[in-house]
Amino acid sequence: MYFLVFVSSLLASFRQAVAVEKASLLGNVPASFSSVSVVLLERNLAVLPESWQIPDLTSSLFDCETANDALTDILSTIKQADFIAWDQSFLDVIGTSAKLERIQSFPDDEDHVHEAPVYVPETNELLFSDTHVTGWLWAINVDTHETRKIHTTPPLEHVNGGTYHNGYAYLATNGGSTRGLFRVNVTSGHAECILNNFRGRHLNSPNDLIFDSSSNILFTDPPYGWHNWGVEDPELPTAVYQFNTKTGALRALTNSVLLTPNGLALSPDESMLYVADSNSSLNFASHLGSARNVWAFDYSHSMLSNPRLIYQVESGWPDGLRVTQGGLLMVAVAGGVDVIDPSNGLLLGKINTPGDIIFNLEPVIGKDGGVWMLAGKRHIYKVTIATGGVKEGGAVGTAVLRDAISQVGQSSFSTEEEDRHEHDVLEHSEL
Ligand SMILES: *[C@@H]1O[C@H](CO)[C@@H](O)[C@H](O)[C@H]1NC(C)=O
Ligand SMILES: *[C@@H]1O[C@H](CO)[C@@H](O)[C@H](O)[C@H]1NC(C)=O
Repeated sequence: MYFLVFVSSLLASFRQAVAVEKASLLGNVPASFSSVSVVLLERNLAVLPESWQIPDLTSSLFDCETANDALTDILSTIKQADFIAWDQSFLDVIGTSAKLERIQSFPDDEDHVHEAPVYVPETNELLFSDTHVTGWLWAINVDTHETRKIHTTPPLEHVNGGTYHNGYAYLATNGGSTRGLFRVNVTSGHAECILNNFRGRHLNSPNDLIFDSSSNILFTDPPYGWHNWGVEDPELPTAVYQFNTKTGALRALTNSVLLTPNGLALSPDESMLYVADSNSSLNFASHLGSARNVWAFDYSHSMLSNPRLIYQVESGWPDGLRVTQGGLLMVAVAGGVDVIDPSNGLLLGKINTPGDIIFNLEPVIGKDGGVWMLAGKRHIYKVTIATGGVKEGGAVGTAVLRDAISQVGQSSFSTEEEDRHEHDVLEHSEL
Protein backbone atom coordinates (compact mmCIF):
# COMPACT_ATOMS: atom_id res chain seq x y z
CA MET A 1 0.00 0.00 0.00
CA TYR A 2 2.79 2.42 0.88
CA PHE A 3 4.31 1.44 -2.38
CA LEU A 4 1.12 2.46 -4.28
CA VAL A 5 1.00 5.84 -2.56
CA PHE A 6 4.61 6.36 -3.47
CA VAL A 7 3.93 5.47 -7.12
CA SER A 8 0.93 7.75 -7.43
CA SER A 9 2.75 10.71 -5.91
CA LEU A 10 5.59 10.06 -8.33
CA LEU A 11 3.07 10.09 -11.20
CA ALA A 12 1.60 13.35 -9.95
CA SER A 13 4.98 15.03 -9.93
CA PHE A 14 5.69 13.65 -13.39
CA ARG A 15 2.47 15.22 -14.60
CA GLN A 16 3.60 18.60 -13.34
CA ALA A 17 6.93 18.14 -15.01
CA VAL A 18 5.28 17.74 -18.42
CA ALA A 19 3.03 20.79 -18.09
CA VAL A 20 2.77 21.84 -21.70
CA GLU A 21 4.24 25.08 -22.86
CA LYS A 22 2.38 26.49 -25.86
CA ALA A 23 5.61 27.91 -27.23
CA SER A 24 7.18 24.46 -27.34
CA LEU A 25 4.51 23.20 -29.75
CA LEU A 26 3.51 26.30 -31.72
CA GLY A 27 6.06 28.51 -33.45
CA ASN A 28 5.97 32.23 -34.14
CA VAL A 29 4.27 33.24 -37.34
CA PRO A 30 5.71 36.48 -38.84
CA ALA A 31 3.66 39.61 -38.15
CA SER A 32 2.94 40.00 -41.89
CA PHE A 33 0.56 37.03 -41.51
CA SER A 34 -1.55 38.77 -38.87
CA SER A 35 -4.67 38.70 -41.07
CA VAL A 36 -4.31 34.98 -41.85
CA SER A 37 -5.71 32.22 -39.67
CA VAL A 38 -2.55 30.10 -39.57
CA VAL A 39 -0.54 28.17 -36.98
CA LEU A 40 3.03 26.93 -37.32
CA LEU A 41 3.86 23.62 -35.67
CA GLU A 42 7.22 23.23 -33.91
CA ARG A 43 9.38 20.25 -34.83
CA ASN A 44 6.43 18.60 -36.64
CA LEU A 45 5.02 17.84 -33.17
CA ALA A 46 7.39 14.89 -33.13
CA VAL A 47 6.75 14.41 -29.42
CA LEU A 48 3.29 14.77 -27.92
CA PRO A 49 3.43 15.23 -24.17
CA GLU A 50 1.68 12.62 -21.99
CA SER A 51 -0.66 9.98 -23.33
CA TRP A 52 -3.43 10.46 -25.86
CA GLN A 53 -5.96 8.55 -27.93
CA ILE A 54 -6.85 9.10 -31.60
CA PRO A 55 -10.58 8.35 -32.04
CA ASP A 56 -10.81 6.94 -35.57
CA LEU A 57 -9.41 6.85 -39.08
CA THR A 58 -10.92 10.17 -40.18
CA SER A 59 -9.75 12.04 -37.06
CA SER A 60 -7.17 14.77 -37.44
CA LEU A 61 -4.18 15.41 -35.23
CA PHE A 62 -6.13 17.93 -33.15
CA ASP A 63 -8.82 15.33 -32.39
CA CYS A 64 -6.36 13.51 -30.10
CA GLU A 65 -8.03 13.02 -26.73
CA THR A 66 -5.88 13.71 -23.70
CA ALA A 67 -6.41 14.41 -20.01
CA ASN A 68 -3.88 17.22 -20.18
CA ASP A 69 -5.84 20.51 -20.27
CA ALA A 70 -2.96 22.57 -21.61
CA LEU A 71 -2.46 20.16 -24.51
CA THR A 72 -6.21 20.09 -25.19
CA ASP A 73 -6.10 23.87 -25.37
CA ILE A 74 -3.23 23.85 -27.87
CA LEU A 75 -4.94 21.21 -30.02
CA SER A 76 -8.06 23.34 -30.10
CA THR A 77 -5.99 26.35 -31.25
CA ILE A 78 -4.68 24.21 -34.10
CA LYS A 79 -8.18 22.99 -34.94
CA GLN A 80 -9.48 26.54 -35.30
CA ALA A 81 -6.80 27.60 -37.78
CA ASP A 82 -7.67 27.69 -41.50
CA PHE A 83 -4.09 26.78 -42.41
CA ILE A 84 -1.65 24.56 -40.51
CA ALA A 85 2.02 24.98 -41.40
CA TRP A 86 4.14 21.90 -40.69
CA ASP A 87 7.04 23.53 -42.43
CA GLN A 88 7.93 27.22 -42.51
CA SER A 89 7.89 27.15 -46.35
CA PHE A 90 4.11 26.61 -46.25
CA LEU A 91 3.81 30.29 -45.33
CA ASP A 92 5.22 31.19 -48.77
CA VAL A 93 2.81 28.75 -50.42
CA ILE A 94 -0.24 30.47 -48.88
CA GLY A 95 0.99 34.08 -48.73
CA THR A 96 -0.07 36.90 -46.44
CA SER A 97 -3.62 37.29 -47.82
CA ALA A 98 -4.65 33.63 -47.63
CA LYS A 99 -8.27 32.90 -46.89
CA LEU A 100 -10.65 29.97 -46.73
CA GLU A 101 -14.38 30.50 -47.43
CA ARG A 102 -17.33 28.14 -47.32
CA ILE A 103 -19.40 29.07 -50.35
CA GLN A 104 -22.06 26.35 -50.33
CA SER A 105 -23.29 24.19 -47.46
CA PHE A 106 -25.32 21.02 -47.27
CA PRO A 107 -27.60 19.92 -44.44
CA ASP A 108 -26.04 18.15 -41.50
CA ASP A 109 -28.19 15.10 -41.94
CA GLU A 110 -27.15 14.56 -45.52
CA ASP A 111 -24.55 11.92 -46.02
CA HIS A 112 -23.73 12.66 -49.63
CA VAL A 113 -20.43 12.67 -51.45
CA HIS A 114 -19.57 15.76 -53.50
CA GLU A 115 -17.16 14.88 -56.26
CA ALA A 116 -15.91 15.59 -59.76
CA PRO A 117 -15.16 19.32 -59.36
CA VAL A 118 -14.61 20.77 -62.84
CA TYR A 119 -13.85 24.46 -63.41
CA VAL A 120 -15.53 25.81 -66.55
CA PRO A 121 -13.79 29.02 -67.65
CA GLU A 122 -16.52 30.13 -70.08
CA THR A 123 -19.02 30.58 -67.25
CA ASN A 124 -16.61 30.94 -64.29
CA GLU A 125 -18.42 28.06 -62.63
CA LEU A 126 -17.39 25.00 -60.72
CA LEU A 127 -19.38 21.94 -61.72
CA PHE A 128 -19.54 19.13 -59.21
CA SER A 129 -21.65 16.09 -58.53
CA ASP A 130 -23.45 14.54 -55.63
CA THR A 131 -22.64 10.90 -56.28
CA HIS A 132 -25.98 9.85 -54.78
CA VAL A 133 -28.14 11.75 -57.25
CA THR A 134 -28.93 10.71 -60.81
CA GLY A 135 -29.39 13.04 -63.74
CA TRP A 136 -27.96 16.38 -62.66
CA LEU A 137 -24.84 18.20 -61.53
CA TRP A 138 -24.37 21.29 -59.42
CA ALA A 139 -22.81 24.43 -60.91
CA ILE A 140 -21.65 27.25 -58.64
CA ASN A 141 -20.27 30.58 -59.79
CA VAL A 142 -16.82 30.97 -58.27
CA ASP A 143 -17.29 34.71 -57.51
CA THR A 144 -21.02 35.30 -56.99
CA HIS A 145 -21.59 31.85 -55.44
CA GLU A 146 -24.87 31.59 -57.33
CA THR A 147 -25.82 27.94 -57.83
CA ARG A 148 -27.86 26.08 -60.44
CA LYS A 149 -28.37 22.53 -61.61
CA ILE A 150 -27.30 21.13 -64.97
CA HIS A 151 -29.47 18.24 -66.10
CA THR A 152 -27.67 15.57 -68.09
CA THR A 153 -29.15 13.62 -71.01
CA PRO A 154 -29.00 10.69 -70.70
CA PRO A 155 -29.19 10.95 -66.90
CA LEU A 156 -25.72 10.16 -65.52
CA GLU A 157 -25.41 8.15 -62.31
CA HIS A 158 -22.65 8.12 -59.69
CA VAL A 159 -20.57 10.87 -61.32
CA ASN A 160 -17.32 10.58 -59.40
CA GLY A 161 -14.53 12.24 -61.38
CA GLY A 162 -14.21 15.04 -63.87
CA THR A 163 -11.96 17.32 -65.83
CA TYR A 164 -12.34 20.17 -68.30
CA HIS A 165 -10.93 19.79 -71.81
CA ASN A 166 -11.48 21.89 -74.94
CA GLY A 167 -14.89 23.24 -73.97
CA TYR A 168 -16.32 20.03 -72.51
CA ALA A 169 -16.52 18.42 -69.09
CA TYR A 170 -15.23 14.85 -69.19
CA LEU A 171 -16.80 12.78 -66.43
CA ALA A 172 -16.29 9.30 -64.96
CA THR A 173 -19.33 7.43 -63.66
CA ASN A 174 -18.63 4.61 -61.23
CA GLY A 175 -22.01 3.01 -60.65
CA GLY A 176 -25.36 2.22 -62.20
CA SER A 177 -25.96 0.88 -65.67
CA THR A 178 -23.81 3.51 -67.38
CA ARG A 179 -20.32 3.02 -65.88
CA GLY A 180 -17.72 4.65 -68.06
CA LEU A 181 -16.37 7.95 -69.37
CA PHE A 182 -18.61 10.69 -70.79
CA ARG A 183 -18.08 13.92 -72.68
CA VAL A 184 -20.62 16.47 -71.51
CA ASN A 185 -21.68 19.73 -73.13
CA VAL A 186 -22.03 21.96 -70.07
CA THR A 187 -24.55 24.26 -71.81
CA SER A 188 -27.01 21.66 -73.03
CA GLY A 189 -26.17 18.86 -70.58
CA HIS A 190 -25.91 16.46 -73.51
CA ALA A 191 -23.69 13.54 -72.44
CA GLU A 192 -21.95 11.33 -74.95
CA CYS A 193 -20.41 8.05 -73.80
CA ILE A 194 -16.83 7.81 -75.02
CA LEU A 195 -15.78 4.59 -73.23
CA ASN A 196 -17.69 1.85 -71.44
CA ASN A 197 -15.68 -1.37 -71.80
CA PHE A 198 -12.32 -3.06 -72.12
CA ARG A 199 -12.86 -5.37 -75.12
CA GLY A 200 -16.22 -6.61 -73.88
CA ARG A 201 -15.48 -6.50 -70.14
CA HIS A 202 -17.38 -3.93 -68.08
CA LEU A 203 -15.15 -1.42 -66.36
CA ASN A 204 -15.28 -1.86 -62.56
CA SER A 205 -15.96 1.67 -61.23
CA PRO A 206 -14.17 4.44 -63.17
CA ASN A 207 -13.23 6.85 -60.41
CA ASP A 208 -11.25 9.86 -61.61
CA LEU A 209 -9.65 11.06 -64.84
CA ILE A 210 -7.19 13.59 -66.24
CA PHE A 211 -5.86 14.45 -69.69
CA ASP A 212 -2.23 14.49 -70.74
CA SER A 213 -1.13 16.82 -73.54
CA SER A 214 -1.26 14.01 -76.14
CA SER A 215 -5.08 13.72 -75.90
CA ASN A 216 -4.84 10.64 -73.69
CA ILE A 217 -7.18 10.28 -70.75
CA LEU A 218 -5.59 8.65 -67.72
CA PHE A 219 -8.15 7.16 -65.36
CA THR A 220 -8.40 4.88 -62.34
CA ASP A 221 -10.71 1.87 -62.11
CA PRO A 222 -10.93 0.52 -58.54
CA PRO A 223 -13.54 -1.98 -57.31
CA TYR A 224 -15.50 0.59 -55.24
CA GLY A 225 -18.88 -0.07 -56.83
CA TRP A 226 -18.62 -3.77 -56.05
CA HIS A 227 -17.63 -3.02 -52.43
CA ASN A 228 -20.07 -0.22 -51.78
CA TRP A 229 -23.06 0.01 -54.10
CA GLY A 230 -23.99 -3.29 -55.66
CA VAL A 231 -22.06 -3.24 -58.92
CA GLU A 232 -21.63 -6.82 -60.22
CA ASP A 233 -18.40 -8.76 -59.61
CA PRO A 234 -15.33 -7.24 -61.26
CA GLU A 235 -14.65 -8.52 -64.77
CA LEU A 236 -11.22 -6.87 -64.81
CA PRO A 237 -8.30 -6.35 -62.44
CA THR A 238 -8.05 -3.06 -60.58
CA ALA A 239 -6.04 -0.79 -62.88
CA VAL A 240 -4.90 2.63 -63.99
CA TYR A 241 -5.73 2.99 -67.68
CA GLN A 242 -4.66 5.14 -70.58
CA PHE A 243 -7.40 5.88 -73.12
CA ASN A 244 -6.41 7.44 -76.44
CA THR A 245 -9.33 9.75 -77.26
CA LYS A 246 -8.27 9.94 -80.93
CA THR A 247 -8.13 6.19 -81.66
CA GLY A 248 -10.25 4.72 -78.87
CA ALA A 249 -7.38 2.43 -77.81
CA LEU A 250 -7.44 1.45 -74.15
CA ARG A 251 -4.55 -0.05 -72.22
CA ALA A 252 -3.76 -0.78 -68.59
CA LEU A 253 -0.72 1.06 -67.25
CA THR A 254 -0.49 -0.68 -63.88
CA ASN A 255 -2.53 -3.12 -61.87
CA SER A 256 -0.13 -4.36 -59.23
CA VAL A 257 1.14 -1.42 -57.22
CA LEU A 258 -2.14 0.18 -56.16
CA LEU A 259 -4.85 -1.57 -54.15
CA THR A 260 -7.57 1.03 -54.71
CA PRO A 261 -6.43 3.68 -57.20
CA ASN A 262 -8.35 6.92 -56.83
CA GLY A 263 -7.35 10.51 -57.72
CA LEU A 264 -4.51 11.24 -60.10
CA ALA A 265 -2.38 14.17 -61.30
CA LEU A 266 0.56 14.79 -63.59
CA SER A 267 3.57 16.89 -62.65
CA PRO A 268 3.59 20.20 -64.58
CA ASP A 269 6.13 18.82 -67.11
CA GLU A 270 4.16 15.52 -67.35
CA SER A 271 7.22 13.43 -66.52
CA MET A 272 5.55 12.02 -63.41
CA LEU A 273 2.13 10.62 -62.62
CA TYR A 274 0.84 10.71 -59.04
CA VAL A 275 -1.91 8.30 -58.02
CA ALA A 276 -3.77 8.05 -54.71
CA ASP A 277 -4.39 4.62 -53.18
CA SER A 278 -7.47 4.94 -51.00
CA ASN A 279 -7.70 1.37 -49.69
CA SER A 280 -8.36 2.70 -46.17
CA SER A 281 -11.73 4.09 -47.30
CA LEU A 282 -13.14 0.66 -48.18
CA ASN A 283 -14.05 -0.23 -44.64
CA PHE A 284 -12.84 2.72 -42.68
CA ALA A 285 -14.74 2.12 -39.50
CA SER A 286 -12.77 -1.03 -38.73
CA HIS A 287 -9.41 -0.75 -40.47
CA LEU A 288 -7.32 1.95 -38.84
CA GLY A 289 -4.19 0.26 -40.16
CA SER A 290 -5.07 -0.08 -43.84
CA ALA A 291 -3.08 1.49 -46.65
CA ARG A 292 -3.61 5.18 -47.55
CA ASN A 293 -0.81 6.23 -49.82
CA VAL A 294 0.17 8.42 -52.72
CA TRP A 295 2.50 6.87 -55.31
CA ALA A 296 4.62 8.53 -57.97
CA PHE A 297 5.54 6.88 -61.28
CA ASP A 298 7.67 8.07 -64.16
CA TYR A 299 5.35 8.68 -67.12
CA SER A 300 6.62 8.45 -70.70
CA HIS A 301 3.17 9.08 -72.28
CA SER A 302 2.96 5.36 -73.02
CA MET A 303 4.39 3.55 -69.96
CA LEU A 304 4.53 3.93 -66.21
CA SER A 305 7.75 2.96 -64.45
CA ASN A 306 9.67 3.31 -61.21
CA PRO A 307 6.78 3.34 -58.69
CA ARG A 308 7.67 4.88 -55.37
CA LEU A 309 5.74 5.77 -52.26
CA ILE A 310 5.79 9.52 -51.76
CA TYR A 311 3.19 10.10 -49.08
CA GLN A 312 1.23 8.34 -46.37
CA VAL A 313 -1.90 10.15 -45.26
CA GLU A 314 -2.75 10.05 -41.56
CA SER A 315 -6.44 10.99 -41.61
CA GLY A 316 -8.89 9.18 -43.85
CA TRP A 317 -7.54 8.43 -47.29
CA PRO A 318 -5.95 10.31 -50.18
CA ASP A 319 -8.68 11.16 -52.71
CA GLY A 320 -8.45 13.84 -55.43
CA LEU A 321 -4.99 15.16 -56.39
CA ARG A 322 -3.87 18.37 -58.11
CA VAL A 323 -0.51 20.11 -58.62
CA THR A 324 0.61 23.70 -58.20
CA GLN A 325 2.50 25.65 -60.85
CA GLY A 326 5.71 24.99 -58.89
CA GLY A 327 5.01 21.26 -58.79
CA LEU A 328 3.75 20.83 -55.22
CA LEU A 329 1.10 18.18 -54.78
CA MET A 330 -2.29 18.92 -53.20
CA VAL A 331 -3.98 15.87 -51.68
CA ALA A 332 -7.67 15.86 -50.68
CA VAL A 333 -8.03 14.05 -47.34
CA ALA A 334 -10.37 13.81 -44.38
CA GLY A 335 -10.20 17.21 -42.70
CA GLY A 336 -8.75 19.21 -45.58
CA VAL A 337 -6.03 19.28 -48.18
CA ASP A 338 -2.44 18.23 -47.48
CA VAL A 339 0.18 20.13 -49.43
CA ILE A 340 3.31 18.08 -49.99
CA ASP A 341 6.58 18.40 -51.86
CA PRO A 342 6.60 15.29 -54.06
CA SER A 343 10.37 15.53 -54.61
CA ASN A 344 11.04 14.58 -51.00
CA GLY A 345 7.64 13.56 -49.66
CA LEU A 346 7.54 16.28 -46.99
CA LEU A 347 4.23 17.55 -45.66
CA LEU A 348 4.47 21.35 -45.88
CA GLY A 349 1.06 22.14 -44.49
CA LYS A 350 -2.66 21.63 -44.53
CA ILE A 351 -5.68 23.62 -45.64
CA ASN A 352 -7.84 22.83 -42.64
CA THR A 353 -11.53 21.89 -42.80
CA PRO A 354 -12.15 20.23 -39.43
CA GLY A 355 -15.10 17.87 -39.31
CA ASP A 356 -15.47 17.71 -43.09
CA ILE A 357 -14.11 15.19 -45.59
CA ILE A 358 -12.62 16.70 -48.73
CA PHE A 359 -13.13 14.37 -51.68
CA ASN A 360 -11.56 16.38 -54.43
CA LEU A 361 -10.21 19.78 -55.42
CA GLU A 362 -9.79 21.87 -58.54
CA PRO A 363 -7.71 24.95 -59.31
CA VAL A 364 -9.41 27.92 -60.91
CA ILE A 365 -7.27 28.68 -63.96
CA GLY A 366 -6.85 32.18 -65.29
CA LYS A 367 -7.12 34.22 -62.08
CA ASP A 368 -4.26 36.12 -60.50
CA GLY A 369 -2.63 34.15 -57.70
CA GLY A 370 -4.12 30.88 -56.59
CA VAL A 371 -7.82 30.08 -56.27
CA TRP A 372 -8.72 26.52 -55.37
CA MET A 373 -12.14 24.94 -55.00
CA LEU A 374 -12.61 22.06 -52.55
CA ALA A 375 -15.54 19.64 -52.74
CA GLY A 376 -16.34 18.38 -49.25
CA LYS A 377 -19.08 16.32 -47.71
CA ARG A 378 -20.56 19.29 -45.82
CA HIS A 379 -19.35 22.32 -47.80
CA ILE A 380 -17.87 23.63 -51.02
CA TYR A 381 -14.86 25.82 -50.18
CA LYS A 382 -13.02 28.54 -52.02
CA VAL A 383 -9.39 28.89 -51.01
CA THR A 384 -7.43 31.96 -52.03
CA ILE A 385 -3.66 31.60 -51.64
CA ALA A 386 -0.48 32.87 -53.29
CA THR A 387 0.10 29.67 -55.25
CA GLY A 388 -1.89 28.75 -58.34
CA GLY A 389 -2.56 25.40 -59.94
CA VAL A 390 -2.01 23.94 -63.35
CA LYS A 391 -4.59 22.53 -65.65
CA GLU A 392 -3.71 18.90 -66.07
CA GLY A 393 -2.25 18.34 -69.49
CA GLY A 394 0.50 20.69 -68.32
CA ALA A 395 1.59 23.65 -70.40
CA VAL A 396 -0.32 22.52 -73.47
CA GLY A 397 -3.57 22.13 -71.58
CA THR A 398 -3.14 25.62 -70.18
CA ALA A 399 -2.52 27.08 -73.64
CA VAL A 400 -5.66 25.41 -75.00
CA LEU A 401 -7.57 26.75 -72.05
CA ARG A 402 -6.32 30.28 -72.66
CA ASP A 403 -7.51 30.06 -76.24
CA ALA A 404 -10.92 28.95 -75.06
CA ILE A 405 -11.07 31.79 -72.57
CA SER A 406 -10.04 34.45 -75.05
CA GLN A 407 -12.60 33.17 -77.56
CA VAL A 408 -15.46 33.78 -75.18
CA GLY A 409 -13.99 37.14 -74.17
CA GLN A 410 -14.34 36.57 -70.43
CA SER A 411 -10.67 36.41 -69.77
CA SER A 412 -8.97 37.81 -66.75
CA PHE A 413 -5.73 37.12 -68.64
CA SER A 414 -4.50 39.99 -70.69
CA THR A 415 -4.26 38.00 -73.90
CA GLU A 416 -2.93 41.01 -75.81
CA GLU A 417 -0.09 41.28 -73.36
CA GLU A 418 0.56 37.55 -73.66
CA ASP A 419 0.64 37.85 -77.44
CA ARG A 420 3.06 40.74 -77.24
CA HIS A 421 5.24 38.72 -74.91
CA GLU A 422 5.19 35.78 -77.29
CA HIS A 423 6.04 38.13 -80.15
CA ASP A 424 9.01 39.50 -78.19
CA VAL A 425 10.27 36.03 -77.46
CA LEU A 426 9.97 35.16 -81.12
CA GLU A 427 11.87 38.27 -82.20
CA HIS A 428 14.64 37.54 -79.75
CA SER A 429 14.98 33.97 -80.85
CA GLU A 430 15.10 35.09 -84.47
CA LEU A 431 18.09 37.32 -83.73
C1 LIG B 1 -23.12 22.76 -76.59
O1 LIG B 1 -24.46 22.82 -76.95
C2 LIG B 1 -24.87 24.14 -77.36
C3 LIG B 1 -26.40 24.11 -77.48
O2 LIG B 1 -26.84 22.94 -78.10
C4 LIG B 1 -24.14 24.47 -78.65
O3 LIG B 1 -24.51 25.75 -79.09
C5 LIG B 1 -22.63 24.46 -78.35
O4 LIG B 1 -21.89 24.66 -79.53
C6 LIG B 1 -22.21 23.13 -77.75
N1 LIG B 1 -20.82 23.26 -77.25
C7 LIG B 1 -19.86 22.46 -77.64
C8 LIG B 1 -18.51 22.71 -77.02
O5 LIG B 1 -20.02 21.58 -78.46
C1 LIG C 1 -7.34 -3.01 -47.86
O1 LIG C 1 -8.67 -2.87 -47.42
C2 LIG C 1 -9.32 -4.09 -47.06
C3 LIG C 1 -10.78 -3.76 -46.76
O2 LIG C 1 -10.90 -2.88 -45.68
C4 LIG C 1 -8.58 -4.69 -45.86
O3 LIG C 1 -9.18 -5.91 -45.51
C5 LIG C 1 -7.12 -4.90 -46.23
O4 LIG C 1 -6.43 -5.33 -45.08
C6 LIG C 1 -6.50 -3.62 -46.75
N1 LIG C 1 -5.15 -3.90 -47.22
C7 LIG C 1 -4.10 -3.12 -46.93
C8 LIG C 1 -2.77 -3.58 -47.42
O5 LIG C 1 -4.21 -2.07 -46.32
